[in-house]
Amino acid sequence: MRAADISDQITTVLVTEEDIREKLAEIAARVAVDYAGKDLLLVGVLKGAVMVMADFARALPMVVPMDWMAVSSYGSGTKSSGVVQIRKDLDTDIHDKHVLIVEDIIDSGLTLSWLLENFASRGAASVEVFALLRKPEAAKVHVESKYVGFDIPTEFVIGYGLDYDEKYRNLRDVAVLAPHVYS
Ligand code: XMP
Ligand code: MG
Repeated sequence: MRAADISDQITTVLVTEEDIREKLAEIAARVAVDYAGKDLLLVGVLKGAVMVMADFARALPMVVPMDWMAVSSYGSGTKSSGVVQIRKDLDTDIHDKHVLIVEDIIDSGLTLSWLLENFASRGAASVEVFALLRKPEAAKVHVESKYVGFDIPTEFVIGYGLDYDEKYRNLRDVAVLAPHVYS
């Protein structure tokens, strides 16, 4: 669906479908150069990264395997709990692989810093992060993200994989959810 279809439930469109398409092409070109000749594995973090993974992987001009991990640090609310739980582990042995974690958003950074440590302990050759979105002012811990799509304000956003209570993931753009929806 498009922002116009739910204009009563959002306040602002922060990143459009077109912005995302252009940015993914740009980052895919960088990744293709940075990982040329390397054993790259994309790891998507379910469920928020499903859309960005699908579009990003297809923007890459090379053969690349994808794996998925499901962790939860949020529940159904809008605040990070800081407690990370593995709901689905990788199917792949990442030992000696160059792992690129594909994430929807870095908010507090707690989820990714936990994941980075976890992957490092499994003996990956390298672990880097591509986050489509980042909220710089919400950071509680610093996360080194090699590739970042867009820095956005500290507001709860939905769309392009991001949900509120499992809804709005199928919005094509990234938008700020209207407060009346969750208050
Ligand atoms: P942290 O705070 O650990 O959060 O960096 C990472 C995960 O929390 C979810 N998240 C959001 N989901 N709108 C959402 O729909 C948001 O504004 C938002 N902020 C964080 C997301 O799943 C992310 O992977
Ligand atoms: Mg979520």
